[in-house]
Amino acid sequence: MRPEVRARHAHALTRIHGDDAFLRRFERFFTELHDPLHAVYGDDPRFPAAWDALLDVVAASAAARDPELRALDHEREITPDWLHREQAVGYVAYVDRFAGTLQGVRERLGYLRELGVTYLHLMPLLRTRPEPNDGGYAVTDYGAVEPALGTMDDLRELAADLRAAGMSLCVDVVLNHTAREHPWAVAARRGDARRLAFYRTFADRTEPEAYERTLPEVFPDTAPGNFTFDPELGRWVWTTFNTYQWDLDHANPEVFVAMAAAMLELAAVGVDVLRLDAAPFLWKRAGTDCQNQPEVHDLLQAYRAVVRIAAPAVAFKAEAIVAPRDLVAYLGVGRHEGMECDLAYHNVLMVLLWSTLASRRVALLARTLASMPPVPAGAGWLTYVRCHDDIGWAITDEDAGAVGEDAHLHRRFLTEFYSGVFPGSFARGAPFQPEPSGEARISGTAASLAGLELALEEADALETDLALRRLLVVYAVAFAFGGLPLVYMGDELALRNDPAWAEDPAHADDTRWMHRPPMDWEAAARRADERTPEGFMWTGLRRLVDARRGRPALHGYGVSRPVETGDPHVLGLLREHAGRRMLLLASFSEQRRPVALQVLAEHAVEAGPRAVQPDGRPLRIDGEALVLEPFQHVWCDG
Ligand code: GLC
Repeated sequence: MRPEVRARHAHALTRIHGDDAFLRRFERFFTELHDPLHAVYGDDPRFPAAWDALLDVVAASAAARDPELRALDHEREITPDWLHREQAVGYVAYVDRFAGTLQGVRERLGYLRELGVTYLHLMPLLRTRPEPNDGGYAVTDYGAVEPALGTMDDLRELAADLRAAGMSLCVDVVLNHTAREHPWAVAARRGDARRLAFYRTFADRTEPEAYERTLPEVFPDTAPGNFTFDPELGRWVWTTFNTYQWDLDHANPEVFVAMAAAMLELAAVGVDVLRLDAAPFLWKRAGTDCQNQPEVHDLLQAYRAVVRIAAPAVAFKAEAIVAPRDLVAYLGVGRHEGMECDLAYHNVLMVLLWSTLASRRVALLARTLASMPPVPAGAGWLTYVRCHDDIGWAITDEDAGAVGEDAHLHRRFLTEFYSGVFPGSFARGAPFQPEPSGEARISGTAASLAGLELALEEADALETDLALRRLLVVYAVAFAFGGLPLVYMGDELALRNDPAWAEDPAHADDTRWMHRPPMDWEAAARRADERTPEGFMWTGLRRLVDARRGRPALHGYGVSRPVETGDPHVLGLLREHAGRRMLLLASFSEQRRPVALQVLAEHAVEAGPRAVQPDGRPLRIDGEALVLEPFQHVWCDG
């Protein structure tokens, strides 16, 4: 660092005087922090003071860093792939629905350990407005835990327990908006001009209307439009999501400082991974859809640098549910390479797995995966089948066209199929935010979408078996794709839709609550009995967890590529890393499917005894072909 720069930041640097590691990180990441902020805020008169405030926050946080967390900082600096190892398995749950409180979660760690979990994402747990609060995504205090769930001390103790048990903890940071009841918004309504500038508000409809011309709507059904008139404020407020979620104005450098402080507070209690909620929406630009703007990536790089300097043990996970071409950018590409998020949800894989289950054809999945840019070095995917949100059919015209499909018609088909209205559909889901075009996003638990609810209702043993196999095959692809696979709470027991979801008036207009059932601990007690759906799914998932261990090809830094299997219903996915390879063959058919042994030879892999272990069924060879049972998956090592 140049002496004059050092001199200018002397006030911050003296706070951590003697902390050599901090000084080195400060110098190493200074440019990565400063340059994007300068690019975004350089001309803003508020920037010089905000910058000083930011450095104070960073230095204070580093100075106060707990010794145990400092040791972790050091450990992860020398093992930067700690989150990407092939042994990693994630789990996501609502604190209240899983175990009541944070203390309750501590008592359930044995269950997670039994499943083989190494990473736990707890859904929003900071203090929130009363219901409706979008499942906690309407925060009123970034420095406090929601009282019904516990305290910051409980969170610290849980993080320590998890660390001792070899599990990391992921918590949401809701960066795009606060609750209307957040003290900043309250102050804004009382006439505090500085706090008013934390939000994007407008005196009249002129600007909102101009923006609306190109803005999509996230909740068109329940929260139409992107702006809400607040009578108390007497202004229009930018509200991308619900009317009570006020969008922060990231064009204000003070907002950046405030949210950086919020991140460091979570880092200080021992949170390992920050889930950056709704990341694509942080920057607004007239004439665009106000998503994925270049400034979003500048801001994410700067946030990343803040955390790398003050709490390098902490990683970033992007929640960017966007089209395939925009998704990889969140892992840091071009001038942001290596400087953005460590993980991003592979929503494209998720969507196409469901598309494949419905169509029984793997071409669209294979084509879309093949046309995605590679993951930049040092980052990896978070692979998943279900989460707390709806499934939005992110299928582009181009990808659908390439396999002879019409994207709109296919999305309509998927909507009808998973709503259960398409003739012959096995699914029991429900539309979310239906559009006049006949398309809708879909709600429902994985098990209900895969056919288990219907099969059990009809007491059809064959269909029950097929539904569970469907569920396992999509999980198998998520586990064998490479990256960090995530189990959504209840899927390990094949939990069906919550029949009582609409009884809560605060949830009744949001079908996503049907797939957020309370944990069924009675069902969990049946997990040892493989004759029950719970036991079948639990055992199947446990096999997938075991299968990842000892398969270095699945390390998150590797490369996955779909390969031709000669059968339109069988997915071939080749994974390579550090000279290791693995070919996954996965059938998406209710019929037996032969695959020529030649396919294995072409990719120099074998179907040894280990290859069938994850599925559990024996392998049948018929002449020159390997015959896959319905939904069988085989993991062939090279
Ligand atoms: C994210 C969350 C979703 C929430 C939205 C607004 O997409 O996953 O549940 O509604 O952000 O916070």
